[in-house]
Amino acid sequence: MKRMMAFSGIVFLFFVIFHAYGNLHYFEGEIAYDHYAHFLRELLVPILPHSGVLWILRIVLLVCLLAHAGSAFHLWARNRRARGSDKYAVKKSGADYFASRYAMRTMRWGGVILLLFIVWHILQYTTLHITPGGEYIHGRAYSNMYYGFQLWWVWLIYAVSLVALCLHVWHGVWSALQTLGAVRGNTIPVIRLIAFVVAFGLFAVFMIVPTLILFGYFPAPMSPAEYAAAAAAVGM
Ligand code: HEM
Repeated sequence: MKRMMAFSGIVFLFFVIFHAYGNLHYFEGEIAYDHYAHFLRELLVPILPHSGVLWILRIVLLVCLLAHAGSAFHLWARNRRARGSDKYAVKKSGADYFASRYAMRTMRWGGVILLLFIVWHILQYTTLHITPGGEYIHGRAYSNMYYGFQLWWVWLIYAVSLVALCLHVWHGVWSALQTLGAVRGNTIPVIRLIAFVVAFGLFAVFMIVPTLILFGYFPAPMSPAEYAAAAAAVGM
């Protein structure tokens, strides 16, 4: 079960790193950003149908989500059963005890926040069922993001969820490497550092674009006519 959590967690980690990097295309402007999203949908066409790679990725992520959340729940239920109604007779002392309790709690609640966030995120930016800040349009990811992050509370939803992601990754990277046998006495400081850099790096890279949008750094999206002409010029 722990191995399954570790492997599915690593797949997620690669996905979020790739996604965070992809979001940086926002700095290249509206057409470049939308073109990147368009390119991902057209990848391997005509070997695969339109959006084929995207659907494979969605299925892989869904399977990983079920494996990750399912094994987390199973391990939690098993621990609870094993412990019965008794609380621990002997508690670990001091910092160790609090550190492990804190990590466990943030993993559990962080996991729940992340699940809710993913549902919100997909309804907002993929299916466009929730459209705070304006009229969203399929295929115009730059514009949808621009209008969404005009609102401070949308920014806050992302900031809180990314704090949860960051804490989850921080503990998760550590925990996965331990499960897979990489943690030995002399590697501990290096692994602590890797887990910290990956987690907080992800937070910074993900939040930079929404934060700059909120503070008005990026230009507003083009009008439909301007956009149609610019998109046609790059074959979108
Ligand atoms: C500031 C943070 C984030 C921003 C601004 C952001 C933005 C976006 C946008 C605009 C899309 C749609 C792209 C398109 O139209 O093609 C998208 C898709 C997606 N995002 Fe994010 N994202 C963020 C964080 C995350 C995180 C932390 C996760 C996962 C834990 C995530 C998971 C996904 C998934 C799974 C999709 C694809 C959904 C699909 O097409 O099926 N995103 N994101």
